[in-house]
Amino acid sequence: MPEDDVELEARLAEQDTFEPPEAFVEQANVADESIYDEFEEHWPECWERAADLLDWDEPHEQVLDDGDEPFYEWFVGGKLNASYNCIDRHVEAGAKNRAAIKWEGELGETRTYTYQDLYREVNEFAAALRGLGVDEDDVVTMYMPMIPELPIAMLACARIGAPHSVVFAGFSADALATRMNAADSEYLVTCDGYYRRGEPLDHLAKANEGLDGVDHGVEAAVVVDRLGDAGFGHDLRGNQHDWDELVAAQQGERVEPVSRDAEDMLFLMYTSGTTGQPKGVKHTTGGYLSYVSWTSRAVLDVKPEDTYWCAADIGWITGHSYIVYGPLALGTTTLMYEGSPDYPDRDRLWELVEKYDVDIFYTAPTAIRAFMKWGTSYPAAHDRSSLRLLGTVGEPINPRAWKWYYTNIGEESCPVVDTWWQTETGGMMVTGLPGVSTMKPGSAGPPLPGIDARVVDASGDEVAAGNAGYLSVHRPWPGMLRTLYRNDERFLEEYWQEYSDPEADEWVYFPEDGAKIDDDGYITVLGRVDDVLNVSGHRLGTMEIESAIVGVEGVAEAAVVGGHHDVKGEAVYAYVILEEGTPEGDEMRARIVEGVEDAIGPIARPESVVFTPELPKTRSGKIMRRLLEDIANGAELGDTTTLRNPDIVRDIQRQVEGD
Ligand code: WTA
Repeated sequence: MPEDDVELEARLAEQDTFEPPEAFVEQANVADESIYDEFEEHWPECWERAADLLDWDEPHEQVLDDGDEPFYEWFVGGKLNASYNCIDRHVEAGAKNRAAIKWEGELGETRTYTYQDLYREVNEFAAALRGLGVDEDDVVTMYMPMIPELPIAMLACARIGAPHSVVFAGFSADALATRMNAADSEYLVTCDGYYRRGEPLDHLAKANEGLDGVDHGVEAAVVVDRLGDAGFGHDLRGNQHDWDELVAAQQGERVEPVSRDAEDMLFLMYTSGTTGQPKGVKHTTGGYLSYVSWTSRAVLDVKPEDTYWCAADIGWITGHSYIVYGPLALGTTTLMYEGSPDYPDRDRLWELVEKYDVDIFYTAPTAIRAFMKWGTSYPAAHDRSSLRLLGTVGEPINPRAWKWYYTNIGEESCPVVDTWWQTETGGMMVTGLPGVSTMKPGSAGPPLPGIDARVVDASGDEVAAGNAGYLSVHRPWPGMLRTLYRNDERFLEEYWQEYSDPEADEWVYFPEDGAKIDDDGYITVLGRVDDVLNVSGHRLGTMEIESAIVGVEGVAEAAVVGGHHDVKGEAVYAYVILEEGTPEGDEMRARIVEGVEDAIGPIARPESVVFTPELPKTRSGKIMRRLLEDIANGAELGDTTTLRNPDIVRDIQRQVEGD
């Protein structure tokens, strides 16, 4: 451990709580703790505060319609357009020259879009989409890296009322095809490639392979030329169009924002669940946009004059809510960076903080743990005095990483908000308010005002302070998912079955996370309790990875579990049974890794592949994942007496230790 870290630890190790810095409180968007009581007393009308952050074409008639639980509706009767709220109204209010998006490419190219520029680009691309035949309610898939055309395309869709479904660019061709098939999406926006660690990647080859796997007609694809001369020389197919040419043909076109019902779908986002099939989480225009605007304002303290940076990828929910929709609805400047945090060197992010005078920085614990490992010299080399607030999201943050972030990035002058939420919740749910709450490293904090999150035991009763149980949410909120796309049944099963009592008219949302509650009501989220892994803050279903492995020729059976990893949080451990006659060894291992990368993407790559003649199974034939997790973690083995084949556990363990 570097010396300065040792000193820091000695000084802060004992400190369990931190107060918000006074200078921060003085300027905070929310600095009065009465907001908790106020929301409690006026629930659900309190949520009008969120809706009031937006401009509506028609005001709502009812805040919450809970007549058909748990299919809640928010701001019923209201009408609005998300693109209008993120762009036009700021231009109309005189902010047309304010930067909306500042973008930096990995190689150092930069682009700035003022709100006026964004207005022009979004209108022209919206006109182009219409020209290609995209109608209101058609799902447009986007398979794009962190380039400005991605938010432009999202906002263009929002403008014409076509929901988007963004597929993370790091996902494989198969993953793209699965998602386009599930949404019956006939349109794709993609690009030729992008840079990773200085090297161009051929993205269109992957997109094309994905398109080949789409089992309905694809009307049109739009391809951004990101790489120019460094590209891979693909010829566009018959139904593929070059972004620049399409937009040039629409120069000066303006598209009237389509007035959408508050409950109309704004977008779909596929996320991993317990089965092999990803879940299409449906978010709406009014509730979602109100909620991400409200939380951006209250938790991230976003102000129009800020330069705000969420270093996530727009391909995940964090990027949707807190790179694109929340910050732009509030009229701030949102920064986008295309590449890796360690290219060309490990100070790249701090160089950007200095260069752009970043006020607010939001990232994942996995990144913070990597910064910690790299050491303090990288941030120390750059002026970070512009920073006012730090945030984390995506996985639990250990107190040591929290304190490192607070001290070495924030210089003990920026509050740190640890925000718990999910793709399904749309926005933040459990976190302190930075101008109000005492911070407790490692604990996300109290539920936000208006959010009724609790920790319950298996029978649904609240656990006593100091105890662990399951996180549950006992009242609806505007940003909640409305259903799983075309699958109400799975929506009910996945989220509402566990703790609800329909007969008593009690509906409880179950996020499938374990948690602990302290006597001050602070919630520490412990991690998933379903078969979902959290690798570097990314959600991956074990079933998805298992079915990818079983798809490799020569594999008979596979079990995947998460094992502890110092930087990634969790890493993928695969236990594999081969078919008779298939030789074990590095070649087979490589094929399995490749199979996973092809089916899902490099993020799901197994850290370890262990061959075994059998998997530990209960007498009823269920794989004992808990034991496999113990092995992956090098932990003391749990009870093996209920196993049909107890010896196998020791055999596997010996192999892993011998690795
Ligand atoms: C985990 C990301 C602990 C949790 C926004 C959740 C967290 C899953 C935190 C959702 C946090 C997210 N502390 N765990 N602050 N934030 N998680 O859908 O397990 O990609 O269920 O949304 O990440 O992941 P998702």
